[in-house]
Amino acid sequence: MRSNYCGKLSESDIDKEVTLCGWANSYRDHGGVIFVDLRDNSGLVQLVCDPADSKDAHKNATIVRDEFVLIAKGKVRARGEGLENPNLDTGKIEVVVSELIIESKSTALPFVINDEKVGEEIRLKYRYLDLRKPASYEIFRLRSKATIAARNILDANGFLEVETPVLTKSTPEGARDYLVPSRVHGGEFYALPQSPQLFKQLLMVAGFDKYFQIAKCFRDEDLRADRQPEFTQIDFEMSFAGQEDVIKVAEDLLEAVFKACGHSIQAPFNRITYKDAMEKYGSDKPDLRYDLAMVDVIDIFERCENEIFSNIAKNKHHNRIKALKVPDGDNIFSKRQMKGFEDYVRKFGASGLGYFQMKEDGLKGPLTKFFSEADLEEIVKRADLKVGDAIFFGAGDKKLVLDYMGRFRIYLAELMDIVPSDVFEFVWVVDFPMFEVEDGRVKALHHPFTMPKDLDCEHIEEIESIAYDIVLNGTELGGGSVRIHRPEIQNEVLRLLGISDEEAQEKFGFLVEALQYGAPPHAGLAFGLDRLIMLLTKSSSIRDVIAFPKTQRAQCMLTKAPSPVDNEQLKELSIRVRDIKKV
Ligand code: AMO
Repeated sequence: MRSNYCGKLSESDIDKEVTLCGWANSYRDHGGVIFVDLRDNSGLVQLVCDPADSKDAHKNATIVRDEFVLIAKGKVRARGEGLENPNLDTGKIEVVVSELIIESKSTALPFVINDEKVGEEIRLKYRYLDLRKPASYEIFRLRSKATIAARNILDANGFLEVETPVLTKSTPEGARDYLVPSRVHGGEFYALPQSPQLFKQLLMVAGFDKYFQIAKCFRDEDLRADRQPEFTQIDFEMSFAGQEDVIKVAEDLLEAVFKACGHSIQAPFNRITYKDAMEKYGSDKPDLRYDLAMVDVIDIFERCENEIFSNIAKNKHHNRIKALKVPDGDNIFSKRQMKGFEDYVRKFGASGLGYFQMKEDGLKGPLTKFFSEADLEEIVKRADLKVGDAIFFGAGDKKLVLDYMGRFRIYLAELMDIVPSDVFEFVWVVDFPMFEVEDGRVKALHHPFTMPKDLDCEHIEEIESIAYDIVLNGTELGGGSVRIHRPEIQNEVLRLLGISDEEAQEKFGFLVEALQYGAPPHAGLAFGLDRLIMLLTKSSSIRDVIAFPKTQRAQCMLTKAPSPVDNEQLKELSIRVRDIKKV
């Protein structure tokens, strides 16, 4: 219907007859002449409806209200001297309307489009109106570009796009499954895939060599700003390939995707071991846009005269004493603030937070009296303290200390405003442990199909796996691993996970069986596409980059899903609802 897009018109179109289609963004009646800002997804242009040019067009313009859908025919002209609008891309021109068709009207909107103060619930209920704002369109334009760039580079590297089932069996990635009842097999359920993990491995057994998929995944887990119950992965797998091959493909893909979105990034990215990431930054997804690394001081504290600390320091296997240096911290923070930081870490289980201030005449603070001069000097040396710095200490159980000191590091960086917003800092986290033990239960840290390095270790937690995560600005963007391709190793790992032979047979029998028919060595990775777009577009929530997202309570405000179904439907599915639980 249109000849041009509104936002694309320029001075080079002056004197052209155009037909424009779009929404009335605003209108103004200036004593006889009506101005309408017409909007389409490319931007805005000013329409001029002057009765002197067309009585009919002007008459129609008198009833135009916000968000009416219009088709306007007219001629482009330069705006008069002094009437240009420098804030508008098309601010040097306007379109004199000869014909104005009102295609559809709009009742008063529930909120003003682009109004940033409108609550998220109402925006999600009317998501199609929320999406009318140009910033949303820009996000989805980039999402489309990024997805196409990912597809193209994988295609160019010989990867085959294959769709795997959505109605399937449980694929364990550590979350709860979404279940779908079967009508034909009453009392039985499909699970929606948490990832295409098992199927992509089967495609390697099938000899497909290189697979990829832009795959919908479903996980019933607690939602956060970077998690949705339904999300998309860029998932790939390759045969006769190991960690380095996967990392190369992943880096090439990221370079291509960022380039398609107008950013230049430089691979290869830095790498850090899981152990170093945890010990230095208290996180397996460290934000390396700023430093604030922790140093170990457990040996120094072992010698101090405070029994609480020296006792903690005796058990170096289970405990940690970590110091976090804050450059210039003594100058920046008041004493009260420093004490107040204790309240922050207490929220995460800390029993306290010690601190020293680096003054002209050495370390000062409530704890210095417990240390010898030599040890205070050793602290200054180890943390490379300069006059004006502050240093904070966390002591106790290893997991707890690393966790709250890691959080404190992020908290301080934000407080001090030292996080650059225009930097993409990638890091590979490698050499993950194979297992973690929680409340006495052994769990796979990545997933049970990851290749262990050496199963022969004294403590199960010491077993490492060939798994790697790619982290961007403190967010886990993707993860992958080399897989087990020998059935005996797979069986052994399942056994270590405490999964009985029967359970293993029932849940993953098809995979273990497939490994018996000649499985090639294989490895892969999956990026979270939504997270990638969230970081690329600097959106604060993953919901902003998903067209129709769910709320924190996993509801769709627009369709009202999930919703009850009628009894007939339940009966067909052999289901009776009882004891309704509201979580
Ligand atoms: P993993 O579980 O690490 O690995 O998932 C890969 C990436 O998917 C993204 N992601 C999510 N994004 C939004 N909402 C969620 N709830 C969510 N959960 C995960 C993250 C994450 O890094 N099968 C393996 C991959 C492999 O080994 O090849 C897997 O799914 O960005």
